[in-house]
Amino acid sequence: MSKSDHQRLLIIDFGSQVTQLIARRLRELNIYCEIHPFHDVTAGFLRDFAPRAVILSGGPASVTAQGSPRPPSDVFELGVPVLGICYGQQVMMDMLGGQVERGAGTAEFGRAYVTPSQDRIELLKGWFLETREQVWMSHGDHVSKIAPGFEVYGTSPHAPYAITADLSRNFFAVQFHPEVHHTPNGRTLYENFVRLAGFTGDWTMAGYRDEAIARIREQVGDAKVICGLSGGVDSSVAAVLIHEAIGEQLTCVFVDHGLLRQNEADEVVTMFRDHYNMPLIHADESDLFLGELDGVSDPETKRKIIGRLFIDVFQKHANEVGGAAFLAQGTLYPDVIESVSVSGGPSVTIKSHHNVGGLPEKMGLKLVEPLRDLFKDEVRALGRELGLPESFIGRHPFPGPGLAIRCPGEITREKLEILRRADAVYIDQIRKHGLYDEIWQAFVAILPVRTVGVMGDGRTYDFACALRAVTSVDGMTADYYPFSHEFLGETATRIINEVPGINRVTYDITSKPPGTIEWE
Ligand code: XMP
Repeated sequence: MSKSDHQRLLIIDFGSQVTQLIARRLRELNIYCEIHPFHDVTAGFLRDFAPRAVILSGGPASVTAQGSPRPPSDVFELGVPVLGICYGQQVMMDMLGGQVERGAGTAEFGRAYVTPSQDRIELLKGWFLETREQVWMSHGDHVSKIAPGFEVYGTSPHAPYAITADLSRNFFAVQFHPEVHHTPNGRTLYENFVRLAGFTGDWTMAGYRDEAIARIREQVGDAKVICGLSGGVDSSVAAVLIHEAIGEQLTCVFVDHGLLRQNEADEVVTMFRDHYNMPLIHADESDLFLGELDGVSDPETKRKIIGRLFIDVFQKHANEVGGAAFLAQGTLYPDVIESVSVSGGPSVTIKSHHNVGGLPEKMGLKLVEPLRDLFKDEVRALGRELGLPESFIGRHPFPGPGLAIRCPGEITREKLEILRRADAVYIDQIRKHGLYDEIWQAFVAILPVRTVGVMGDGRTYDFACALRAVTSVDGMTADYYPFSHEFLGETATRIINEVPGINRVTYDITSKPPGTIEWE
């Protein structure tokens, strides 16, 4: 079955920060959906896509402004259910004959409570079991007159048209955001909406795996493919999937830049070469990387050096494969959406991320990106489908520049070795206390300061380190993990006792923002 054989739902994006969450909620219900920015959705596009239902997302614009973003009116002629959310609701009302007014005292941000009308429509089935439901509002404008054919089915103190519908056409419009966490039962609304639209939930990982394999075979034919393997979840799943599709035509290149964690290189090489029998080039280039990083302490310079060397080294080893026509990458759906975003404006560079961008053009390679339809948790599910061990699938993310960005100041082999050992003790502690899976990412950073301590009867003058552990959904925002004092005390004692070179341990309690997860 190809992707196009699935029942499809189209999400038209008007630039809301949370549009991706709509797709997440639907994917959880085994619904295949795609997000497309409003300016790409033409009448022709709609015809080709042939959605079984359409969702109009929220967005920052005002319907009352000149040239505000709109879907083509054909959306309302398709004969399929349409759900408008926030800006989507307003644009729908405006286009179908209702009215929208600018803020003026009715703007609402945050938690609100919606009370349903007597008439419980199908969209609200299983919802509002209590008399009112908590929802999340975030709007400046508001609908002042609903379009002909619509009735009101729910109100909140500031939104008299919180839930409206035209049941004869299966058009629904809500002022709040059912996709966010702060609308605790919002999932029910999506469940009802897709059921109304006749979706059967035909998007499953087992099915996806077979389709993806077929697609890779079709794309690649009998050409050779190279894949940069980092040992992270995305590149590992991409490699195993492609290997399953084309076997020995795939060669993986694992670049060891000398900035990996304890035993990491061995684990990756053993797993892919011995367990999966994949052709794998293990490029130990630590001397090169550490040599060029010698004496460098500026974070951006470190990142740029690593990024440049990585591409050079990768290219050198990829040439050994001879005649590869494709480069495999573990690009995920959020990266794809990002690159076609509604606003698309330049954003400030906080950190230069390390990736293999630029390589395909330089080497004349085409891309194979078998994960570009998937979210991170779907990639994990696919990894399980492919039999990757849980220890790999559940791994915390590890940045491309590796330990370099956990070693503020100058990088030395001595510091890296101390860091590796401290990190191993910390992760061991987290695992022993059964906390690993609750944490998005945990690591040690070695600080560029030495402090005075006393051990036994002697004075010490060693490095201080910082423990970092955060919870996060996507790495974009994060909170520090609330370890118990007992855990922190025990871990500090172990690190100081077991790791020569460290005599002081601190815990980083900065959230993101204003901090970032990594130290550099
Ligand atoms: P920050 O430090 O920006 O990190 O809050 C957010 C997430 O991204 C990871 N990270 C990277 N991943 N290449 C990567 O592949 C990079 O250059 C890079 N820098 C940061 C970081 O570990 C966290 O998960």
